[in-house]
Amino acid sequence: MSWPTWLPIRAELSDLIPYGAPQITGVTALNTNENPFKVPTAVVEKMLAALPQVLENLNRYPDRDALELRGKLAEYITKSTGSSFLAKNIWAANGSNEILQTLMLACGGRGALGFLPSYSVHPLIAKATGTKWISGERLRDFELDLASALKQISDAKPGLTFITTPNNPTGTCTSINDIEVLAEATLAINGLLIVDEAYQEFSDEVSAVSLISKYPNVVVVRTMSKAFAFAGARVGYAVADEAMISAVLVTRLPYHLSSATQALALTALASSDLLLAEVDALISERNRVASELEKLGFRVIPSSANFLLFSGFSSDAHQTWKALVEKGVLIRDVGLPGYLRVTIGLPVENEQFLAAIAAHRP
Ligand SMILES: Cc1ncc(COP(=O)(O)O)c(C=O)c1O
Repeated sequence: MSWPTWLPIRAELSDLIPYGAPQITGVTALNTNENPFKVPTAVVEKMLAALPQVLENLNRYPDRDALELRGKLAEYITKSTGSSFLAKNIWAANGSNEILQTLMLACGGRGALGFLPSYSVHPLIAKATGTKWISGERLRDFELDLASALKQISDAKPGLTFITTPNNPTGTCTSINDIEVLAEATLAINGLLIVDEAYQEFSDEVSAVSLISKYPNVVVVRTMSKAFAFAGARVGYAVADEAMISAVLVTRLPYHLSSATQALALTALASSDLLLAEVDALISERNRVASELEKLGFRVIPSSANFLLFSGFSSDAHQTWKALVEKGVLIRDVGLPGYLRVTIGLPVENEQFLAAIAAHRP
């Protein structure tokens, strides 16, 4: 991008373009790992009932510390993982992206390391917050090589080490035993281990929240955008040691989470069973779509998330992606040569995808 000379954009940002997957209307959107199930009517009704009180009080700022919401998120994590947390262990924000930004602003001084390929927004937020980004490596099959990861940590000594599990865009999981080894290694260099668990509810692996009492440097980042089918509301949260939450309070903007967001999220959490009801259906659809792709001859990376990374098309990945868009199916070209990523949709959407991709079988 060439900027006008009068526009004093920071030099290190001048070559960046805004992040974002294409938002195209009138296609089957399987490109941003959303949950395809709509918010159930019973939950919509509860949200509508909560709104009048929120609306008439919009003259006031929201609860700056979102204490009630943080308490309910703590209850959800305690109930779903068996590790006990209170509101003081939770921070909530407008999506987990905002959590990541607040963390980098607070603790990014010694740089951030991540093992690629992984969530491409991590290096982007690093750049935007002036945090030095260190691109770490994974094995060719996208698994983490623990010995190499430990060496990368001890060589770079970053303030922040990112591990995304299940990983985006690969869907692969890092075992809790390996995460514990990383927690120990990052503690030894006085660094944080940021475990991005955006897709945790789709996986069988134990959550890294179980490590926080032993390793106070572990910060688990979660979201309501995926399993909760609540992406439009923008609610993400961190689970961490109390001292860590106090640190992110320093870099959060005052009143960042609107009263409407807090009220909607509270209602959603009160109906979490209903909102999470389709997670099992998505997992079995994921497994079905993976096996259908394999039957077509594609190679599918084992996934513990609500998406699949696959390879083996007859033409190049970007050409294949374009051909699918022309057939009305929008998947994601994640920039990994030879691979595309598809989000698991409703069965009828998955059928559309399978029919369209069949023309590109190896
Ligand atoms: C690994 C990972 N982390 C975080 C996010 C951000 O989610 P949100 O800001 O909607 O909470 C995403 C979104 O796709 C993701 O894939």
